[in-house]
Amino acid sequence: MPLSSLSRRHFLGNTASLAAVATLPAWFQAEAAEAPKPRVPLSPNDRPAVALIGCGGMGRADAKNASRFGDIVALCDVDDARLDEAQKQFPQAKRYRDFRECVQHPGLHVVINGTPDHWHTLVNLAAIQAGKDIYSEKPLTLTIDEGLRLVQAVQKAGTVFQTGSQQRSDPRFRLAVELVRNGRIGTLRHVTTSLPSGRHGGPFATAAVPSGFDWNFWQGQAPELPYVPERAHGSFRYWWDYSAGTLTDWGAHHNDIALWGIGELGPIEAEAQALRDPVPGGFSFPSTYLVNYRYANGVTQTCRTVDTEGPAGNVLDPKTSPGQMPNGVLFEGNDGWIFVSRGTISASQPALLTDPLTQKTWSAYVSDDHMGNFFECVRSRKDPICDAEVGHRSVSVCHIGAIALRLGRTVRWSPERQRFPNDREAERWIAREQRKGFGYGMLS
Ligand SMILES: NC(=O)c1ccc[n+]([C@@H]2O[C@H](COP(=O)([O-])OP(=O)(O)OC[C@H]3O[C@@H](n4cnc5c(N)ncnc54)[C@H](O)[C@@H]3O)[C@@H](O)[C@H]2O)c1
Repeated sequence: MPLSSLSRRHFLGNTASLAAVATLPAWFQAEAAEAPKPRVPLSPNDRPAVALIGCGGMGRADAKNASRFGDIVALCDVDDARLDEAQKQFPQAKRYRDFRECVQHPGLHVVINGTPDHWHTLVNLAAIQAGKDIYSEKPLTLTIDEGLRLVQAVQKAGTVFQTGSQQRSDPRFRLAVELVRNGRIGTLRHVTTSLPSGRHGGPFATAAVPSGFDWNFWQGQAPELPYVPERAHGSFRYWWDYSAGTLTDWGAHHNDIALWGIGELGPIEAEAQALRDPVPGGFSFPSTYLVNYRYANGVTQTCRTVDTEGPAGNVLDPKTSPGQMPNGVLFEGNDGWIFVSRGTISASQPALLTDPLTQKTWSAYVSDDHMGNFFECVRSRKDPICDAEVGHRSVSVCHIGAIALRLGRTVRWSPERQRFPNDREAERWIAREQRKGFGYGMLS
């Protein structure tokens, strides 16, 4: 279905039936109440020892969340200021500057990886080598090749691995996906993932590296460049060198849900375009873009940034037009649509949500607590809801779109072989050149 599917025409007639559901339908709540809940630790001996590597905002939030289940015994960052912040939160924890030493901390069970995207895989591989279980932030990888290596290493070592795409453990997203996978909106035709725009701007001036910050190590596998504050903490995601803009940042959330609902291993085709060109010397990933995907089961997907801040709130308005769809995921089928975002779910007819699913042909993995699910699996040795394969496949959707964007043309992908058949130009971007001293060899 073309992008124009999100037009006023498409939704006319459905206006009266728009049903944004603040609380989840009763039948779904009753079902969820019966699902097992993560166990809180029974005794101090039942609390795994946890290291936080990458002490930025997300890493510290993850560590706080993990401290419900385990003890934070080690902190690692390449910036002393970040270590100081984390130390205030966890005064007993030992400080490290090099993650290779941190993963060897005596008695350590679990690593939380809150580093920027270009460091995720090397840190994860070091933790696997050291025999630790891992909660790693999304987007799981910088390249498809990293994901292939990671999945193999996790499987070989028997690591319990959770990717931090926590929308999988949000009941609204699970409800939407279960309804779609069980045919509630008829045959699924088109999915739209609407992501926030990235940052646009530059060029930026170089600056003196702040004391206590190891800028060289921070850059890791990426090309070595003079220090520019806008490249580092927080805004790294708007540069090709370390990430792929909001396409991987938010895409690792919404494209993950799209893939869950579509039920394929990945798309077979992608074409993409930047909607605004970056400023030379500024943030290098386009702030706004559009990607169209095609899947083997006939479903099409549009992933695009919201043109503006969009309408207030995240509720889908039937008058929505392309580029104005609020941040979220829209599933469109022959018999209606379901829109889901953080804190809201709505449908073309209220009954699509409120009628119980009596005969399920497909059931979702049930988790209502992403971190709790991880620690439960650390005990049971089962796979968490968003294991390495799930995280890798979901971020691959984003990487495939980013490669199409980079090349400015359609690319064809084989989800089974995980290759771009007969396309050497696209194949070249499955992996990236790693800077000397910061490649896989740094782990041996
Ligand atoms: N799940 C979510 O909803 C969510 C939300 C925000 C961020 N994230 C993810 O969390 C990650 C971190 O994001 P952030 O906003 O906290 O970034 P940030 O830049 O603020 O923090 C990253 C920290 O990692 C440190 N670091 C860099 N390289 C390191 C290395 N080799 N060893 C140890 N520390 C290193 C940096 O110095 C910095 O303190 C990103 O991958 C991001 O996508 C996830």
